[in-house]
Amino acid sequence: MENPWLHIPLDDYEGHMAHTDVAQDILLADVLELAVRRHAPSSLAVIGCAGGNGFDRLAAFSLERVVAVDINPIYVQNVRKRYEAMLPGLQLIAGDIQDDGVSFTSVDLIIAGLLFEYVDSDRTLTRLHALLRPGGVLVSVIQLPCEQTAVTHTPYTSLNRLEGYMRLISPEQLTEMAVKCGFKEITSSLLRSAAGKPFQLLEYQRTAK
Ligand SMILES: C[S@@+](CC[C@H](N)C(=O)[O-])C[C@H]1O[C@@H](n2cnc3c(N)ncnc32)[C@H](O)[C@@H]1O
Repeated sequence: MENPWLHIPLDDYEGHMAHTDVAQDILLADVLELAVRRHAPSSLAVIGCAGGNGFDRLAAFSLERVVAVDINPIYVQNVRKRYEAMLPGLQLIAGDIQDDGVSFTSVDLIIAGLLFEYVDSDRTLTRLHALLRPGGVLVSVIQLPCEQTAVTHTPYTSLNRLEGYMRLISPEQLTEMAVKCGFKEITSSLLRSAAGKPFQLLEYQRTAK
């Protein structure tokens, strides 16, 4: 099955995330900004960057390098157009984070906001561990089960392609896998979008090995 993210226009994705019944764009942009403020990295990687949600806030920090990865090459092209001038250390990679070929010099901080729902978590944690410097931090946001449909219905029907592809993972499962991959949990907290859906923010530190 081809990855459905390759068939979701960026305008649809962004319209969906900003829709009042979803309101997840601000939630993820806030997580990005707060993580950079809290961990003060010199280098940052955003995995599953879409169109660069929250990147407008990064210019305020002294980041030497920002790596942005997404499986959809059109999303990555848009990040280039929007942020290349604003973020001089921007490195863009179009590809599947699960592939060894998607690689970059290790960074201090990795953000994976709503990514683990669409990948093999074990494989991805192994890749992210290799792409993080020892002592570096992985920040992830995952969606928690609730009574609403996993993918909220909005006028952007191309997002319906994700139904049946998206798989929720629990914080306990993700942490168990992360620990096996060489991380320790440093933060776990509940977040809620303005539309009421629950999410878990999990921060893992790469142990020295
Ligand atoms: C729910 S969106 C989250 C986007 C972003 N973090 C934000 O703040 O809007 C998931 C993103 O991950 C990307 N993605 C899905 N699977 C991927 C993979 N295997 N490798 C890289 N990117 C992937 C999708 O194309 C999409 O842009």
